[in-house]
Amino acid sequence: MTAQQPTRQPRTRFERLGGRAALVAIVKTFYDRIEADPELRPVFPPDLRPGRDKQAAFLEQWMGGEPRYTQVYGEPALRRRHRPFTITERGAERWLAHLEASFEAHGTEEALTREIMDALRPLALRMVNTTEVRTRPDA
Ligand code: HEM
Repeated sequence: MTAQQPTRQPRTRFERLGGRAALVAIVKTFYDRIEADPELRPVFPPDLRPGRDKQAAFLEQWMGGEPRYTQVYGEPALRRRHRPFTITERGAERWLAHLEASFEAHGTEEALTREIMDALRPLALRMVNTTEVRTRPDA
């Protein structure tokens, strides 16, 4: 009889992060930061809770956890879902900065944070749907 070597799957980003409890805590911090950001807060609807839960479900799926977003809400089609909101390049940069700070606040390993942020950055910039318009010539 030959001994079976257990096949080792590489750990997903979701597992490396610490699973659902860690991700939910990070997304909570992220949404708290958005809530406190005078530039980004008005872009979001009055009730932040549904978005926060969706974000946690999406990021779990995106990082290799269970496909919780698609199971409940269907295809992510994120650019289409972001179309109703005014998203400028500056807003996307702030969004990314808040997420990165939230990983840092929860002690996520630096290399993992970098890997995640590098992968999310082009996606965030694809959500941009509005060019900034100067309302005052001297602004
Ligand atoms: C990689 C970048 C991003 C990802 C993965 C992401 C992910 C998501 C997801 C999964 C949702 C829920 C969609 C739904 O089911 O209705 C959502 C909603 C939303 N996102 Fe993003 N997003 C990104 C970038 C941004 C940026 C840059 C902004 C604005 C600066 C933004 C603003 C919003 C707003 C306002 C909502 C609606 C929240 C609500 O309905 O409560 N997102 N986002």
